[in-house]
Amino acid sequence: MSCLRLQDWPEPIVRVQSLSDSGLPVVPDRYIKPPSQRPSLDSASPTESSIPLIDLGGLFGDDANLRASIINRISEACTDWGFFQVVNHGVSPVLMDQMLQVWRQFFHLPIELKQVHANSPRTYEGYGSRLGVEKGAILDWSDYFFLHYLPSSLKDYNKWPALPNSCREVIEEYGKELVKLCTILMKVLSINLGLGEDYLQNMFGGDDIGSCLRVNFYPKCPQPDLTLGLSSHSDPGGMTLLLPDDRVAGLQVRKGDNWVTVKPAKHAFIVNIGDQIQVLSNAIYKSVEHRVIVNSAEERVSLAFFYNPKSDLPIEPAKELVTPDRPALYPPMTFNEYRLYIRTKGPCGKSQMESQKSPR
Ligand code: OGA
Ligand code: NI
Repeated sequence: MSCLRLQDWPEPIVRVQSLSDSGLPVVPDRYIKPPSQRPSLDSASPTESSIPLIDLGGLFGDDANLRASIINRISEACTDWGFFQVVNHGVSPVLMDQMLQVWRQFFHLPIELKQVHANSPRTYEGYGSRLGVEKGAILDWSDYFFLHYLPSSLKDYNKWPALPNSCREVIEEYGKELVKLCTILMKVLSINLGLGEDYLQNMFGGDDIGSCLRVNFYPKCPQPDLTLGLSSHSDPGGMTLLLPDDRVAGLQVRKGDNWVTVKPAKHAFIVNIGDQIQVLSNAIYKSVEHRVIVNSAEERVSLAFFYNPKSDLPIEPAKELVTPDRPALYPPMTFNEYRLYIRTKGPCGKSQMESQKSPR
C-alpha cells in the first residue's frame, strides 16, 4: 500500500456539526447509506435484554466466591456478546462526569478554535470528520477528536485541546484511571482464557502498551433513518472502554442477525473486545461488530478509550491456544500494520478480520 495515500484527505473536510447547525432539513447525499445499511429506527429503543451489566465491586474485596463469580460472568459476557457494561469499577464518577463535560464544551467552542487541531490521515491525531481516505466514500454523521495517551513518546500535550482550561488535566487523570482498569480487566481475560494472569499484558508489550482516546461527537440529524453516526466496525485494537452519554442511547451491538441498542447504565463503562484479542485468543473471543445510530432530537458525545498492544510487536494466536484441532487462525502482524486498513478504508464491519485469516 502506498503511504502517499495517507498524506491528506481526498476531499475538503466538512464538519458534520456545521451541517447540523445550519439547520438543513435533509441529509446531504454524501451521508446517505445504501438501504441495506440503514438503521431500522422502529426497533431501536433500548431493550432490557442487552449486553450484561457486571458489578466489579467484589473483584477488589476478599470474598473468594464473589470474585470467582464476577470473573465467570465476564467470561460468559466475552463469549456470548464480546461486550459488557461494568459498574463499581473504581474510576471516580466525578471524573467521568467532568470528562464528558469538558468534551461537550470543547465541541461547542467556536469553529476557529477547533480548526487549529484539524487532523490528517497520516496520524489521525486531532479534530476529524472522517475515517478512511477513499475518494467518494459515503461518510458517517459525526465529528471526533483523536489523541494518544500512551506510550509517553507519542503523548503530546500540544496536540490535545488547550480549551476548556481544565481539559488537559482532566484527560491526564482520566487516562491514568482507565489504564489501571484496563490492566485489571486484562488479568481477568487472561485467567478466563486459561492463561497466566499476566499473559495478555505481556503479549501486549508489558509496560509499553499503547492507549488512545477517540471522542465522538454525533450532532442532531434531520433524517436519522437514512444514515449512521458510525458505520459498522469492530475495534482494531486490544480492548475498548467506552463512556457513552448517559442521556442519549446510540450504540448498537450485533447479536446474530440483529442489532441490539445498548441502554447506558449510570456511571458505567461499556467494555468490548477488539481485534487484537480475537487474534491472541485464536478467536475464542471475538471482536463484535457495532455501530452508532443518531437522532433528530439530541446530540450525543461518547469517549472511546482504546487499550492496544505496543505498535511494533507481532501479534499472533497464543501458543497455548493453538492445537492440532484448532490451528492458528491468523498469521502474526503488528498493530501498526493492522490499523492501516481501517485508516485507509474506513469502518467496514469485520471485513478486515475475515481477510486476515490464514489460508488453509
Ligand atoms: C468507537 C465506537 C461507539 C459510540 O469509537 O469505536 O464504537 O457509542 N463508538 O460512540
Ligand atoms: Ni468501536
